[in-house]
Amino acid sequence: MSRTVPFYDFNKLHNPTFQEKINARFAEIVSKNGFVEGEYNFSFEEKFAKMQGAKHCLLLANGTDALEIALLAYGLKPGDRVAVTGITFYASGEAILNMGMIPVYVDVIPNSGLMCPKSLERVLEKYDIKAVMPVHIYGLPADMKTINELCQTRKIPVIEDAAQGQGGFIHSGPIGSGGNLVTFSFYPTKNLGAFGDAGAILTDDDDLALIIKTIRNHGRSELELMGRNSRCDHLQAAVLDLKLETIEEENKQRKQIAAWYHQALKDLPINLVDASYLETSSWHLYPVFLGDAGIRAKAQEAFKEAGIGCTPFYERSLNQEKVFNKFSEGEWTIASKMAGTVLCLPMNPFITEDDVAYVAENLKKVL
Ligand SMILES: Cc1ncc(COP(=O)(O)O)c(C=O)c1O
Repeated sequence: MSRTVPFYDFNKLHNPTFQEKINARFAEIVSKNGFVEGEYNFSFEEKFAKMQGAKHCLLLANGTDALEIALLAYGLKPGDRVAVTGITFYASGEAILNMGMIPVYVDVIPNSGLMCPKSLERVLEKYDIKAVMPVHIYGLPADMKTINELCQTRKIPVIEDAAQGQGGFIHSGPIGSGGNLVTFSFYPTKNLGAFGDAGAILTDDDDLALIIKTIRNHGRSELELMGRNSRCDHLQAAVLDLKLETIEEENKQRKQIAAWYHQALKDLPINLVDASYLETSSWHLYPVFLGDAGIRAKAQEAFKEAGIGCTPFYERSLNQEKVFNKFSEGEWTIASKMAGTVLCLPMNPFITEDDVAYVAENLKKVL
């Protein structure tokens, strides 16, 4: 096997120029012995909030903490019900369980995995929901205009899980500009990734920002809250701050790659994400909907032979996972079906048009 199309490409992302710059920053941090919440934390928080259209950015230890702290900041209590979609990474549901709360599933829009507003409306009518957690899954923007309207009339707070959404756009501007608590993960594989774990919450609300700041640092402020340690290391902040120099160009490239995929795959007997998302998704991942679990297994095998990276995100919807299937409130028909057949193709800013043609050619052989 001579040719490969990697799913992620860290060697190209962390090129010698980047390494030189980050090594200089690390040397500077070591020489000053400033390891936690240093100047790069504040620099990043200011720039990232501005870029995403929010007033405050609070860096945290990881994206799961961001979800948990958002639930606490909104004042939710153990036993409260939180509406969430089944097509997501475990962490969205895990944050709800870790806080002693109950997940109630909302079904998804076919060929996207995004929260279905009609399903949400039914769930809100039927259950006593205390918070709604739409996920900008794969980087696709959830319909925040409709979701916000449904929640605002009922005075239910919304937490946008934007762990995969960095670089995407909702109706009001960049993901982060919708006025809700918006959480991010900066896990290394994300569009904007640290050299380990990091996360953040965005908010326009000064009071919520102070609560989040207080919780992340052991409850230490005039608020006297029960806190925890969810501070972001200065070294991670230095990486994230440096990566802001190139992120917009990389996200632009992801959009171009998604457009190439759409063009190359449009005549195959599979479903793609609707083309209306081409401009608004962050294209963290590029999912295709193969309609059949057997075809997906064959495609995975063929891609392995051909040196093409791929991942079945997500093989099971949350309600099908062992940890979550004891919670059986809500709706999940479309989510469960979709989870059995979705496959994510290689997506990183360094994929060429020729790579896309190679992936398409190999997928065609399987179908
Ligand atoms: C949709 C989603 N939510 C939450 C998380 C949790 O983030 P972290 O791994 O930084 O805790 C992730 C990421 O990995 C994610 O993809």
